Amino acid sequence: MEVPKIKVLDEKEKILHTVSKEVSFPLSDDDKKLIYDSIKFLELSQDEDVAKKCNLRPGMGLAFIQMGLPKRIFVIANKDEDTGKFETHIIINPEIISQSEELVYVGEGEGCLSVNRYVEGIVPRHARITVKYNDIDGNEKTIRVREEIAVAFQHEIDHLNGILFVDRIDKKDPFKNQDKMREL
Ligand code: NI
Repeated sequence: MEVPKIKVLDEKEKILHTVSKEVSFPLSDDDKKLIYDSIKFLELSQDEDVAKKCNLRPGMGLAFIQMGLPKRIFVIANKDEDTGKFETHIIINPEIISQSEELVYVGEGEGCLSVNRYVEGIVPRHARITVKYNDIDGNEKTIRVREEIAVAFQHEIDHLNGILFVDRIDKKDPFKNQDKMREL
């Protein structure tokens, strides 16, 4: 099985802090290919044998800006541990149109393919969000996501706005307001 050649930029790269631009349609063939390659890459990164052999870190989300392309596109591939099947999302020009008041955080900490170190602290996220976006053909869609997937969407939308999860951790008080949020 061939792992698509994808180079993910490290957090030191300044471009990760730029705001990505809206995408117009139709997408180029190159962009479409990169979308499908990114999904394949994420799926394979979650396969223990492949990850070990190819020295990949497991990832469930990737934004175009992490590959140096400031376009408002991200993909998610989330493995269902029971079935082994992937839930995948291709999200273009996303906009959060509503969000729950309830906040959550990932107890073990968020991960990012661009952040190659362990960072202590919590990242407050909305437990549920509704997102308006374009699909790969430019159709307008709306999706409601919750829990881990909602966190992944917010993490990736942050990338499109030049924000890394580490930027959202309070440096002086990394566990600030923890008691006001639910742990995932
Ligand atoms: Ni990330």
